Amino acid sequence: MENILIEKQDNIAVITINRPTKLNALNKATIQELHDGFKTLNDDKSVKAIIITGSGEKAFVAGADISEFANFSVEEGGKLAAQGQELLFDFVQNLSTPVIAAVNGFALGGGLELAMSCHFRVASTNAKMGLPEVTLGVIPGYGGTQRLAQLVGKGRAMELIMTASMIDAETAKNYGLVNHVVLQEELLDFTKGIASKIANNSSVAIAKAIQAINANFEDGINGFAVEIENFGACFGTEDFKEGTTAFLEKRKANFPGK
Ligand code: COA
Repeated sequence: MENILIEKQDNIAVITINRPTKLNALNKATIQELHDGFKTLNDDKSVKAIIITGSGEKAFVAGADISEFANFSVEEGGKLAAQGQELLFDFVQNLSTPVIAAVNGFALGGGLELAMSCHFRVASTNAKMGLPEVTLGVIPGYGGTQRLAQLVGKGRAMELIMTASMIDAETAKNYGLVNHVVLQEELLDFTKGIASKIANNSSVAIAKAIQAINANFEDGINGFAVEIENFGACFGTEDFKEGTTAFLEKRKANFPGK
């Protein structure tokens, strides 16, 4: 991998996007590497949570790589968005392993879209977030028009996208775009702390919960029906047996993840 680093410690993996001289902008190669990295980690049952962050102190990701698409045609533009959404943004959203974005600086355009594809976000105090695509004569194409409205509401999404404004971490927290704001030097440890809590719980149940929560945002799918189905399915798992047995035996559960 040329553009990303993957580090595993205990049962938590950290993916670092590593193009600091380009503020970690997402070029085609990085998107493919991220897809491959997420897939490998998701297939590794010892990995219970994934954190994604950017290298350097300045940026999480400053957007899609503008130099790559500046000369694209209508057809190529459409293909860029479709391929990116399939390979990375929808892929991350639907991953069964929890993914947390540790937003360590600028998260702009595709960078904010990547953070919004993650299951939730933690930001450092210096983080700045926005979807500035209209300043380039284009709109967000990696799910930003949909996910920003889902996370912060339609009116705020409209204003942020139309004005191309950046918001700071505190405002993002007030909007519900990020869950926590911490100092940059504490960001990774703080996020790992949340990941460890997740890692103690049933990974099978968590995967079912992610799927049920996501179902609320999918057209033509009844989220309540998905919840009922996934709730029932949990009763057939070894994790459920272990979780309930441990409770009744007044001990901590040791989930097999099956
Ligand atoms: N695509 C490609 N390259 C990018 C990039 C992007 N989205 N964002 C930053 N870079 C590159 C710059 O071109 C520059 O490269 P260079 O040193 O080879 O010239 C390098 O990263 C550093 O960026 P620079 O603009 O010099 O840093 P800055 O501190 O002055 O400004 C930003 C930081 C984030 C405000 C500014 O880089 C920016 O506006 N980036 C684009 C944001 C954007 O519109 N994203 C949406 C894309 S759809």
